[in-house]
Amino acid sequence: MTENTIASSSSSYDAVIIGAGAAGLFCAAQAGQQGLKVLLIDHAEKVAEKIRISGGGRCNFTNRDLDVRAPHKYYVGQNPQFCRSALSRYTPADFIALLDKHGIAYEEKHKGQLFAQRSAEDIIRMLLAECAAGGVEHWQPCSVKKVTFSALSTDTGSAGSYAIQTDRGTVTAPRLVIATGGLSIPKIGATDFGYRIAQQFKLPLIERRAGLVPLTFDGDAWKPYAQLAGLALPVEISTGSKKERMSFLEDLLFTHRGLSGPAVLQISSYWKDNTPLHINLLPGTDMTEVLQQAKARSRKLVANELAAHMPTRLADAWTSQQPELQRPINEASDKALTRLAEQLSRWEITPNGSEGYKKAEVTLGGVDTKALSQQTMEAKNQPGLYCIGEVVDITGWLGGYNFQWAWASAFACAQAM
Ligand code: FDA
Repeated sequence: MTENTIASSSSSYDAVIIGAGAAGLFCAAQAGQQGLKVLLIDHAEKVAEKIRISGGGRCNFTNRDLDVRAPHKYYVGQNPQFCRSALSRYTPADFIALLDKHGIAYEEKHKGQLFAQRSAEDIIRMLLAECAAGGVEHWQPCSVKKVTFSALSTDTGSAGSYAIQTDRGTVTAPRLVIATGGLSIPKIGATDFGYRIAQQFKLPLIERRAGLVPLTFDGDAWKPYAQLAGLALPVEISTGSKKERMSFLEDLLFTHRGLSGPAVLQISSYWKDNTPLHINLLPGTDMTEVLQQAKARSRKLVANELAAHMPTRLADAWTSQQPELQRPINEASDKALTRLAEQLSRWEITPNGSEGYKKAEVTLGGVDTKALSQQTMEAKNQPGLYCIGEVVDITGWLGGYNFQWAWASAFACAQAM
């Protein structure tokens, strides 16, 4: 890749891609390798900052368990089926093959999640090498000031031309790819650029909100639990009405302001304001039975009996809120123990909000899939304008699904150009 070329001799390209993140880099590489003259623009100092920080610095780049025939299981949006075509044409196996080609070692962790064995930097280097192989030109940091479109009156084989005004000059191309991602983590370069371009070209938007994000609770309601910050345990968490209930069996993490960990990040993408979460703190254990048996044989404090099944700090915090539980279990009433069992298996708690985009891994909502072709990612009513990756109203579960969508949507777009 030609790094940071200042105002190249020719300012016209076959395709200009804005956003050198996961989707933009992959699309540029594919399009370049097909023989297109591609310019990739990003306003940040470094490419792919989100890849760099993802997966704890090791990038959970895909998920082996993805069933491409059933995207609604792993993706959220107005129409998760939209991503089926792209996901089935560029699968986790295809990306794994690319890693193999570059000799990058990876490992499976939890539930099909694949991570770079050494560092996320390996994935970035691989994408840059793929771009270089496609002769992709690269302007970075480079701000885009304005985008305009002129429909062509003569038959030149393309429907029009985009003029992209940047702080390095103006470039033109018949194809413009928006790969500027979502709003999460503004301090590493996230902006609403993609949504503004969508509005400019009259592409409808689905309301945005933070996803895969820790949830917060009112100060007073949270006081008894704030002391548990740092504590983690496996739970079953659910939200939503009976008809549309979503639940996850994952680890829950207590924080100073609320709840986090994979369980809460996953459920946050489904949680709606002012609705409760239901948490089974001891999934797979019949606590009514356990507590009754303990009552029959033990004189230990209720908290001590509980601590045999959950972290001691949590058992203490839970029982300290209820005077009738601060006694030996054989002296606790059946009613109090039954209520305790119910509370532990169906802890109902209503968040007051989330930690927002500064902590969210993704943005829910975005460019309405109704406005795009599911085969090519091109806007139906705006020839030559493509939207790929997170800017589109497709959001994956935690576990590599978001990067897989970035690769697959980028591939579908590049194939069509
Ligand atoms: P991405 O955000 O990668 O790239 C957008 C690019 O556009 C950026 O380079 C940005 O600088 C640029 N840009 C923005 N505005 C611009 C403007 N106005 N002008 C020019 N350029 C502009 N997913 C996953 O599958 N596995 C994982 O392990 C993780 N882990 C993870 C951790 C953390 C902390 C976060 C925040 C996110 C994740 N994700 C993840 C989600 C994943 O990072 C995300 O879904 C993809 O990076 C989206 O790829 P895109 O290319 O669409 O956007």
